[in-house]
Amino acid sequence: MKNEVQNLSVDHDDIDLNNSGNDSFLTVLDARLSRRSMLRGGVGTAATAVLGTWGLTACGSDDDEPVTPVPTTPTAITSLAFAAVAKSTADQVTVPVGYTAKPIYALGDPIFAGVAAYKNDGSDTDMDKRAGDHHDGMEYFGLAATGNARDANNSERGLLAMNHEATSNKDVRSYYLHTNGGTLNPRPKGEADKEIAVHGLSVVEVKKTNGAWGYVQGAALNRRVTPHTEVQLSGPVRGNALLKTKYSTDGTKTRGTINNCGTGYTPWGTFLTGEENWAGYFTRTATGYTTDNASRGNDKSVASLNRYGVTQTAVSRHGWETAGTEDQYARFFIGKTGASTDGTDDYRNELNGFGYIVEMDVYDTAVAIKKRTGLGRFAHESAAFGKTVAGKPLAVYMGDDSRGEYIYKFVSAKNWNAADANPTNRITTGDSYLDTGKLYVAKFNADGKGEWIELSITNAKIAAYATYTFADQADVLVNARLAADAVGATKMDRPEWCAVHPTTGEVYYTLTNNANRRVEPTGSQLALDGANPRAYPDVQKDGTTASSNSPGNVNGHIIRLAETAGESAATTFSWDVYLFGAESTNANTNINVSALTADQDFSSPDGLWFSKNTNLCWIQTDDGSYTDVTNCMMLVGVPGKVGDGAKTTLSFEKADKSFATVETYVGKKPVAETLKRFLVGPVDCELTGCTETPDGKTLFANIQHPGEVLANTADVTDPTKYKSYWPGNAGYQAVAGNKTSRPRSATIAITKNDGGRIGS
Ligand code: FEO
Ligand code: CA
Ligand code: CA
Repeated sequence: MKNEVQNLSVDHDDIDLNNSGNDSFLTVLDARLSRRSMLRGGVGTAATAVLGTWGLTACGSDDDEPVTPVPTTPTAITSLAFAAVAKSTADQVTVPVGYTAKPIYALGDPIFAGVAAYKNDGSDTDMDKRAGDHHDGMEYFGLAATGNARDANNSERGLLAMNHEATSNKDVRSYYLHTNGGTLNPRPKGEADKEIAVHGLSVVEVKKTNGAWGYVQGAALNRRVTPHTEVQLSGPVRGNALLKTKYSTDGTKTRGTINNCGTGYTPWGTFLTGEENWAGYFTRTATGYTTDNASRGNDKSVASLNRYGVTQTAVSRHGWETAGTEDQYARFFIGKTGASTDGTDDYRNELNGFGYIVEMDVYDTAVAIKKRTGLGRFAHESAAFGKTVAGKPLAVYMGDDSRGEYIYKFVSAKNWNAADANPTNRITTGDSYLDTGKLYVAKFNADGKGEWIELSITNAKIAAYATYTFADQADVLVNARLAADAVGATKMDRPEWCAVHPTTGEVYYTLTNNANRRVEPTGSQLALDGANPRAYPDVQKDGTTASSNSPGNVNGHIIRLAETAGESAATTFSWDVYLFGAESTNANTNINVSALTADQDFSSPDGLWFSKNTNLCWIQTDDGSYTDVTNCMMLVGVPGKVGDGAKTTLSFEKADKSFATVETYVGKKPVAETLKRFLVGPVDCELTGCTETPDGKTLFANIQHPGEVLANTADVTDPTKYKSYWPGNAGYQAVAGNKTSRPRSATIAITKNDGGRIGS
């Protein structure tokens, strides 16, 4: 999400909570390994380990078992032939000539039988029986002909499981959801109920009928998960004292999932979803309540709450806790009010039940949803699996999106068993891989290499950390940010989504931007380093330099890692920067480092996803720096490998007119055939969520919050004030060109008119 204006007037992603003393980088090393010789060795070994194509992996040892056959790996697309889409500020979705993009599933669409069509005028009810708001990360799950079982290879009928991250809000209220734009605190119950219900997840059947995609109302596996849905806490933190609440006195469950952003698709066929900016929904301040830090006796929970962004004066995003004394509202107030010593009589520990990767079996609505606590607690984005190799552990890569936060990976204790690719019980298979393992955080070194540091209570730096006293390993996982601070992880430029290349196994992370990165930092600002090497003023069309991330890393970049010897469990890696975002009109080669052309330039990469059919890398933007020139977009790339470019020295002018220099590793610069803009979205949206049918012929993407920003809540009753009318103006449940419809987040289905694969 972006630009969500509320009481605090902050972008909830774009905050800086990391005040640890960690360097954002090591001092540049004098004795530097030869980059080229190191990469020749590293990549050569990695290439050997991954020579087999996806799902048919060449095995490194005799006792490796064959991986369960999956669709024969199709031919990768290695040259982009379509005509790039130009930048645009039109209120429409634009795709290349020869392609079609159609909205198929929008905010409010009824998913259960008997639910009325969405009126989209603020009067609708039953929001927990409709598509939620702010469609975000999404995965496609093929359906068998019965409509209630798995057929992973079906490309014409499947389930879309997706996140509904947030709702467009203004001053606490969620304007488009309410007839007159909503009411300030105390929030009316009816308004809070609607807003709560549009958060969470939805699962909806989608089907191709006579060549056209649509969703199926009343389908057997359609489902909504909201912040009220019971969810199990699984893994090492289950039952820990930190999780005991009035709702779960034994610390084994919580209610719901909130502010879900990226997703993941497990090798055993379940859906993963990351809880991102969950902290902002809770508060420790209330009318008539004195300071919560004092109520807690200034115990260590205060350090934890502050590190995760809930200071004792921070107000909640929507004020749901003001809607009534009933438990479903009261739980959002997390001040210590009870007399118990263990927190079982209030919600002082409620926040510890959020911030996880959550697993759901989309094919079985009766199976428990589980928060996988072993993967750590932070502002999760996507969860991307490394290549599955029989007899080897699985790696899950993850990022923590806030300024100066970290990159993580989880390595399973259990080795991959090919028989688990299609298990009879998917969620217990998830238990076996995701509940036991090791959590690591990344440290990027100046020599193009890096280390994975295990977050373990046995690490002396964690055990003896002065800022926070960890009780046990569960405490380390719940307070992963603090543990990562303790071991000196590298502060990154807002790690957004990550994705793994289907054949090389290399791991790509979008680092979306960072207004806190500076050439000459002061206070909590971060200095340049090799992995986060740029800070500069933005350039606006009107010649000014003001924008949301200026100065700083204005346009973001995409970093990638190659595990040593291609091993998921490696504790070292090599890295370079695949692409640097930039405006192509900027002639400064220290800024447009990847030499992007007008057909390739982008700002603030966010969503990131690889097609297993085509191996293409899909990049989506959520931007506030280039939006004076273009709406947010999707690009598609044909990446090479870590080390295919060159070591480069960048320089940036200091206040005294001298230059600061920093060395970085730049991936091979793209050409027209290896990077192109594929789509531009409607006004004031972000592009997010990307998934595909297994045949590579339909790509689904989400348009989140078109027309999100209104100057005044009252403007919701005046359609002439809307910035966007999409998807109504695209003819979705309305007449094309409609200039009165409230804008809605929606899923689009993209097909090629000649029936070919997307990107060909
Ligand atoms: Fe939901 Fe950080 O993007
Ligand atoms: Ca995002
Ligand atoms: Ca700009």
